[in-house]
Amino acid sequence: MITKNVEKALNEQIKREENSSRLYLAMASWAERAGYPGAADWLYAQTEEERLHLLKLVHYLNDRGGNAVIPALEAPKASFKSLLDVFQNVLKHEEFISASINDLYAVCVKEKDFTTANYLQWYITEQVEEESTVRSILDQIKLAGTEQGGLFLMDKEFGARAMVKRVALAAAGGMTQAK
Ligand code: FEO
Repeated sequence: MITKNVEKALNEQIKREENSSRLYLAMASWAERAGYPGAADWLYAQTEEERLHLLKLVHYLNDRGGNAVIPALEAPKASFKSLLDVFQNVLKHEEFISASINDLYAVCVKEKDFTTANYLQWYITEQVEEESTVRSILDQIKLAGTEQGGLFLMDKEFGARAMVKRVALAAAGGMTQAK
């Protein structure tokens, strides 16, 4: 059985993962319209990955006898100045999510819920990887600068990154099996 404080903190994280998914969907739509099909593809894949993070928590909370609450929709930020601006926002958001997972972990330790703390290890590792990936993407965008040729090549690279992400998602059991 899960305590009320852990249940509340898990539901807050469920909401944040849902908001992450919707933020990346808005960014993907922006990139698609701005002529960056590769970046859009990566961001659409990232939308699915955040949905996986959300679903894992929903299943976990329900399996432990808690009540996973599906949050109301919030309008995500949808206007951006450039591809660099998009990914600066992605990094800022991922840093926020990492801090949020750490806070959630601290609640579990305080409540002596070591089972949930252990479950959250997966998310802690995932956040290290997510931040690192976005930092390397940002480095590449900065290297490409504002040169059209550089940004074109960068965008092609995104397509390959999106493919890798989708393969990993499929290996994780797809959307509905996520546990
Ligand atoms: Fe689910 Fe990108 O954090």
